[in-house]
Amino acid sequence: MTIGHESVETESAGIRFVWDYGTTDERLRGLYERGKAAQWNAATDIDWEAGVGVPDRVEALGARSALGWSESSPVPKERWGAFQWEFHSWMTSQFLHGEQGALLATSRLVTMAPDMDTKMFAAGQVTDEARHVEAYARYCDLLGNSYTVNPSLKQMLDTVVSENRWDIVFLGMQIIVEGLALAAFRLEHTRSFDPVIAQLTRLVARDEARHVAFGLLTLQEIYGELTSRERADREEFIKESALLMSRRFRLGEVWARLDVDVEAGTNFALQDPKMIDFRRLMFTKIVTSLAKVGLLTPGVRAHLEDLELLRVLPPKVRHS
Ligand SMILES: [Fe+2]
Ligand SMILES: [Fe+2]
Repeated sequence: MTIGHESVETESAGIRFVWDYGTTDERLRGLYERGKAAQWNAATDIDWEAGVGVPDRVEALGARSALGWSESSPVPKERWGAFQWEFHSWMTSQFLHGEQGALLATSRLVTMAPDMDTKMFAAGQVTDEARHVEAYARYCDLLGNSYTVNPSLKQMLDTVVSENRWDIVFLGMQIIVEGLALAAFRLEHTRSFDPVIAQLTRLVARDEARHVAFGLLTLQEIYGELTSRERADREEFIKESALLMSRRFRLGEVWARLDVDVEAGTNFALQDPKMIDFRRLMFTKIVTSLAKVGLLTPGVRAHLEDLELLRVLPPKVRHS
């Protein structure tokens, strides 16, 4: 359905017009329809009053668990509650900054995408991301304790929003940044010591699952036809991104806020088995998505193993 133009598309300054307004992929159009039907309102669909007393509740939870640490942690046991409070504030601040990255990257996808179905879904996603920014900004304000953007996350977001190859914007944002966010939101939702964050992350995770599905559909379509040079470039991008996203969880800013020696804290974050488990959990969705788009290559797999980001599945039980 090309209307008023002889060519299907024209491009100037990296902005691509598409003159074929018809649907080229029913599955993408279906996701776009689902997105329209699943809109929610951050101002009215969350009970913002339910979070009263959250710092005390978070501290009480931290005193019991603090990520399941052993006594060898650099934070003395009597301060595990304070750690949990800072960790929660740090995580939600990074959610907020990541959402701004998603808002900016997705707005670029609208201009860069090569077909109308993709542009329209991306436009819907821009609205979703604006709502996510609104909701997390309000939540961070409610906590009254926030953090600036983590340097590794900022580097990752800078790379994604300045990339000119549209599929790499997709790969970086929809598969890597949002894949990690989806795992983190689901964890945050299940911990539910705060009814506000439980409601908020449940609604956001529903949107993010749709965004990740969008990335998968789009990339599966084109990654079967990469040249070996193109595939190698994307593998390098994934390796660099995995390093940045895992560095983010060395928690330097949290250790500093707690007056813990940053080097000791970073070493603990790198070596503690519970912290390694936590990072692996954060990467589960990314790993399955990479496999689905054909980029969990032996080189990428070896790199993720080196970074201790791959979950080792228990051997299958044989029934005789
Ligand atoms: Fe989002
Ligand atoms: Fe998203």
